[in-house]
Amino acid sequence: MSQRFIQQPLGPPAPTLAPTQPVSLHINGQAHTLYIAPWTTLLDALREYLDLTGTKKGCDHGQCGACTVLVDGKRINSCLSLAITHEDSRIQTIEGLGTEDKLSPLQQAFIDHDAFQCGYCTPGQICSAQGLINEGKAKTEAEVRELMSGNVCRCGAYPNILSAVMEVLHNEGLIMEDKAWSAGATEPEIAPVEPPKK
Ligand code: FES
Ligand code: FES
Repeated sequence: MSQRFIQQPLGPPAPTLAPTQPVSLHINGQAHTLYIAPWTTLLDALREYLDLTGTKKGCDHGQCGACTVLVDGKRINSCLSLAITHEDSRIQTIEGLGTEDKLSPLQQAFIDHDAFQCGYCTPGQICSAQGLINEGKAKTEAEVRELMSGNVCRCGAYPNILSAVMEVLHNEGLIMEDKAWSAGATEPEIAPVEPPKK
């Protein structure tokens, strides 16, 4: 029986460590320099290199909004954006919106309105809602629903998320709807969803 000796790798050589380069990021008011591969997403940079795990990885494909953060005040899906492209930006994550002693108005409203169940989508929902407020476009419930539609909540906490966001918009004088939005007030009526026609 012949015996085969393999002295060379059969395939391409085993990959060596990915080349890294310094990337300077300004996150939640603090400057950081990371040594990362140039294809590292902002989401992975936050979670894996800076331990800012408030930003969640849901789909990693831009479909769920769990990874939403603010870049120069605008909301983006951090799973779709390379960290290296944000060297000159101000990045804000859920950890930078408020503190344990002083929550941001949205963070407080989410608690007051019980606007979460498992909480996995919540940091993205809050960052997205902050971006929505910064944009100043949403003036009605329907517009809030539409402009928050990129943030999926598997627990279906949408009615309470909506009332939390509406309360903050109302308190900041950004909407004029004549309705009581504070927690404990009557929740907004949600139109029943028609089942799909067969
Ligand atoms: S993890 Fe980024 S959109 Fe889902
Ligand atoms: S609270 Fe569970 S996914 Fe939204």
